[in-house]
Amino acid sequence: MSEVHVLDHPLLQHKLSILRDKNTGVKEFREIVGEIAALMCYEATRNLPTEERQVETPIATATVRVLSGKKLAIVPILRAGLGMVDTIIDLIPSAKIGHIGLFRDPETHEPVKYYCKMPPDIAERQVFIVDPMLATGGSAADAITFIKEYGCKSITLMNIIAAPEGIKKVQETHPDVDIYVAAVDPCLNDHAYIVPGLGDAGDRIFGTK
Ligand code: PRP
Ligand code: URA
Repeated sequence: MSEVHVLDHPLLQHKLSILRDKNTGVKEFREIVGEIAALMCYEATRNLPTEERQVETPIATATVRVLSGKKLAIVPILRAGLGMVDTIIDLIPSAKIGHIGLFRDPETHEPVKYYCKMPPDIAERQVFIVDPMLATGGSAADAITFIKEYGCKSITLMNIIAAPEGIKKVQETHPDVDIYVAAVDPCLNDHAYIVPGLGDAGDRIFGTK
């Protein structure tokens, strides 16, 4: 079974409190989604392999550690996942970016795929899928399935807020995928929105409501 990491760092929790507030405007919401993504990325990459190198400082030779192992790819689930990409790429500029477009059918809440474009060497990369919300888990589970079809073996999921239903769905369908979240909320409402959640992440990032 995969691991679920709930990141309860005070900085993350403080920023999340601002996201949850319905009075937070689009500009601040978008900025804070990015800041949270960077903090989550810092934790989710904690176990990346490193190897020793030597560099000459102006004073002497230093033994240093640099990233080794697989290259990385960041895959946002459109639209809302886009809000998490830029700050992660600032931290890991060599990562490539794939995109998966999914929206939830308003009646069935089932994900509908409308776009997919991956880097050509995605199968050799360690993939981080990013999306602020893990509600029913349908979008994340489908996104992971699509990425596995390219041959990817190493996939991590990063969500800001998850519902227990979404975690269960991903763990059942993809027990090899670890999940990083900043909060697990109690439940979903009748429209499959996370309660208390933060509302519609895509609409709040892009100002579409
Ligand atoms: C939201 C969110 C996730 C999905 C989560 O996207 O960003 O992708 O819903 O719900 P699920 O776990 O029940 O699948 P939405 O479908 O609203 O599309 P958008 O990002 O384009 O607004
Ligand atoms: N998508 C969102 O943006 N918010 C939710 O609460 C659930 C799905």
